[in-house]
Amino acid sequence: MKITIARVLFCLLCSIALVYAQPSPDLATMNALRDSLKFPKDFSWTGPDPCKWSGLQCDTSNRITRIQIGNKGISGTLTSDLNTLSSLTVFEVMGNALTGEIPSLSGLTALETINAHDNSFTSISPDIFTGLTSLQNVFLDDNPLSPWEIPSSLKSATSLVDFSASNCSLSGKIPEFLGGQTFPSLKKLRLSSNSLSGELPLSFADSPVQTLLLNGQTQKFNGSISVLQNMTSLTEVSLQGNAFSGPLPDMSRLVSLTKFNVRENQLTGVVPSSFTELQSLSVVNLTNNLLQGPTPTFKAISIATDITPGLNSFCLDSPGVPCDPRVNTLLLIVEAFGYPVRFAQSWKGNDPCGGKNMWVGITCAGGDITVINFKGMGLKGTISPRFADLASLKVINLSQNNLTGVIPQELVKLSALTTLDVSNNQLYGKVPVFGLNVVVSNGNPNLGKDGPGSGSSGSGSNNAGKIVGSVFGVVLGLLLIGLVVFLVVKKRKQNRKMYPQKHSSEEDAFKITIDNLYGGGGSENGSQAPLVETRNPVYSIQELRDATDNFNEKNILGRGGFGIVYKGELQSGMTIAVKRMESSVISGKGLDEFKSEIGVLTKVVHRNLVRLHGYCLEGNEGLLVYEYMPQGTLSSHIFHWEEEGLQPLEWSRRLIIALDVAKGVEYLHSLANQSFIHRDLKPSNILLGDDMRAKVADFGLVRLAPEGAQSIETKIAGTFGYLAPEYAVTGRVTTRVDVYSFGVILMELLTGRKALDVKRSEEDVHLATWFRRMFINKDSFPKAIDKTIEIDEETLRSINKVAELASQCSAREPHQRPDMSHVVHVLASLLDQWKPDEDVSGNDYDTPPPLLEMIEGVNSSFFGDKSLTSIPSPPTQIDKTFRSGNGR
Ligand SMILES: *[C@@H]1O[C@H](CO)[C@@H](O)[C@H](O)[C@H]1NC(C)=O
Ligand SMILES: *[C@@H]1O[C@H](CO)[C@@H](O)[C@H](O)[C@H]1NC(C)=O
Ligand SMILES: *[C@@H]1O[C@H](CO)[C@@H](O)[C@H](O)[C@H]1NC(C)=O
Ligand SMILES: *[C@@H]1O[C@H](CO)[C@@H](O)[C@H](O)[C@H]1NC(C)=O
Ligand SMILES: *[C@@H]1O[C@H](CO)[C@@H](O)[C@H](O)[C@H]1NC(C)=O
Ligand SMILES: *[C@@H]1O[C@H](CO)[C@@H](O)[C@H](O)[C@H]1NC(C)=O
Repeated sequence: MKITIARVLFCLLCSIALVYAQPSPDLATMNALRDSLKFPKDFSWTGPDPCKWSGLQCDTSNRITRIQIGNKGISGTLTSDLNTLSSLTVFEVMGNALTGEIPSLSGLTALETINAHDNSFTSISPDIFTGLTSLQNVFLDDNPLSPWEIPSSLKSATSLVDFSASNCSLSGKIPEFLGGQTFPSLKKLRLSSNSLSGELPLSFADSPVQTLLLNGQTQKFNGSISVLQNMTSLTEVSLQGNAFSGPLPDMSRLVSLTKFNVRENQLTGVVPSSFTELQSLSVVNLTNNLLQGPTPTFKAISIATDITPGLNSFCLDSPGVPCDPRVNTLLLIVEAFGYPVRFAQSWKGNDPCGGKNMWVGITCAGGDITVINFKGMGLKGTISPRFADLASLKVINLSQNNLTGVIPQELVKLSALTTLDVSNNQLYGKVPVFGLNVVVSNGNPNLGKDGPGSGSSGSGSNNAGKIVGSVFGVVLGLLLIGLVVFLVVKKRKQNRKMYPQKHSSEEDAFKITIDNLYGGGGSENGSQAPLVETRNPVYSIQELRDATDNFNEKNILGRGGFGIVYKGELQSGMTIAVKRMESSVISGKGLDEFKSEIGVLTKVVHRNLVRLHGYCLEGNEGLLVYEYMPQGTLSSHIFHWEEEGLQPLEWSRRLIIALDVAKGVEYLHSLANQSFIHRDLKPSNILLGDDMRAKVADFGLVRLAPEGAQSIETKIAGTFGYLAPEYAVTGRVTTRVDVYSFGVILMELLTGRKALDVKRSEEDVHLATWFRRMFINKDSFPKAIDKTIEIDEETLRSINKVAELASQCSAREPHQRPDMSHVVHVLASLLDQWKPDEDVSGNDYDTPPPLLEMIEGVNSSFFGDKSLTSIPSPPTQIDKTFRSGNGR
């Protein structure tokens, strides 16, 4: 029995001893490691069991699970077979003086921590991270490693939470795999003080990283930081001392961001409010960038900011003070190019025109920006519609860049613009319809097409073909437009043939154009002084709908041959007259007329010419916005004053009106030594203001007389009764055609009779013929004078002079007629004698007379065949009616 117990005990002891005697499987590895390390005096690894060595831990199988020998003053090197310690979870050797290689730890699937910072390691095994699927924390900072790149073996460390490798000679780029896809748990990424370069990987967008330290790279990161806008977990960011460029992105989603340091970069653009309004911010460093716009102020309550301007390009030093509007606009323009560094370096201060430094690309005249020349600056991005806010712009040159997108419609608002050069970019889409004087250069293979298309993908050798193709497209388009115009005109002709009686109401029987522009309105008590508004000449259709109460019937001022004229009131309170063109006019022949009217009227500014404030061309709509003339047409005042409850005009008033009209027409005739011919002068085209001063309206028929030529042959337009004989018969147009019409108007002012009066006997129908007959006979002449004019001796003298002038003006032979300057001279001298104190002289020019170049292209054939323009009525009818009016 005793023996049995003893044997059992023995065996038990034996087996215990046996277990005891079993060495750790990691013994050999640990012995080798011990032999390659040099321990300080007070530290030793002794005995046969490594599980008992200091700083080590084992599991129940005597497998080493932890090596934690940091900060022990250990030197020496690590052995290369540490990857056999297959139960290792923590490997900490930081703060020693270890040298040599950080060996591969591949395959240690339990390993959670590698901490080797602050040693003297000189290299690292590239496959150190292979298969470390449990790895969470890596600290390699402050080691004099020979240059290395973030190894692709890190990809397998998908549990990574904290990766820290600052000041350890990392070079190359941050690999694309370092995003949220591969590392869904990564919270900290610290890679400061290395030699990393390149751009932030786009994969960062979905990274859950909270701390991102990339500051101080000797090679410098560059490119945009826009990916930060999607890194919504960020709490601390340092990008200091790199070469990041472009603007700060929209930061509104970075609601946990507390520290943001981007000192010493090349960041440009305006500091966005999405950043300054972040409540979470506590430390912000922006110094020494190229930031623009106002010096920022931050919303967060307790915040330390370092925004000392340094190299920044804030417009003003005081935080929160807004920039000059010109500066704001320029910044919006370059925002569309991604705020290129070049502008941020050059555009310093708050005055693009007068500062110490020239602003690159900007030329001014008198404090206004007149030229923007960004040609060949390597710009990318799009053309900002905000160009339209610089109303003084004359030239925009964006040629030889890489701009994409479309030419913004808003640019047509630039009324002073003469040149828009967008050649050699990658633009596409429809070219807006500009005023006739704007040159839009081409060299964009896809301009006119819907999108970038296939053009940009082709090689250079293909471009010639594409340009030819697009020219062909334009030609085809013009042919189509021409066809449409032709058909529309033809249709109109047919309509007139089918309904020949349509215009034969008494009043208008002999008119070719029915163009009582501003009929009615004369009795209105619109006594407010006309407001002067300086604004873009382009109005939106909505604005004009609002102004006219959606083109309400009650606002109709008159109906003309090309559309209806409405009274309207703009939001600013300014009263306007809106001429709404018939859509058929816009799509057909009238577009040319319309263009002509815009091109001339917006440039021609004279106090005796009705001012064209602007226009609207949207879809089928074409509208002209004129100054409102509260007293309506001259025809109301001389022919219809009784019906409209007006006072008849006294003689002196008529004389002043005649002189006003003469001056307006003289101005047209003498513009820049060239002749502009109105061709449809008549009392319904003469409008009166509240001061009863007259202005000439409706330049739709103006044609530019070519230099050197005394006349241009053109189809007839005008109104019977006022048509000079040679014009009606041959269609030849000279300034003397207007003189003739003016003579007829003088006759109307004298007699109160209309140019044509079908109620009279046949020989009296035509005023000019009748007047000449009456005037020859001194006895009969007083009977011809308007009964409402009070005649005394002095008046009669004046009337006789004007009657003589009227006869001269309406002489049958053009060469017998005086020119308008003579007419002005005669009328002015009459008025001087009559009422020397009446203000009839003075400065007639609101602005200097425009140069010819502004009106170039009035006859542009771009929108259709010239021969199809300006024929409101077929010539056959002209002949017929002319004969009946002037037949003797
Ligand atoms: C960078 O690491 C080196 C050792 O490689 C160390 O001597 C130095 O102090 C570290 N620099 C900083 C700023 O920590
Ligand atoms: C970044 O720098 C490299 C060379 O260091 C250069 O090739 C690359 O174009 C730069 N990228 C940007 C966006 O500036
Ligand atoms: C940010 O995310 C949005 C979608 O959420 C994406 O359209 C955009 O391209 C991303 N920006 C960057 C820089 O990754
Ligand atoms: C950043 O700005 C804060 C607040 O002014 C300042 O204390 C800190 O030193 C700055 N950091 C750097 C790196 O300039
Ligand atoms: C436009 O971009 C292409 C490549 O993106 C480049 O080769 C070309 O030089 C650029 N053109 C200009 C005018 O900057
Ligand atoms: C725009 O710049 C280009 C390139 O220098 C030049 O050829 C072109 O004439 C300029 N356009 C205008 C309208 O000045």
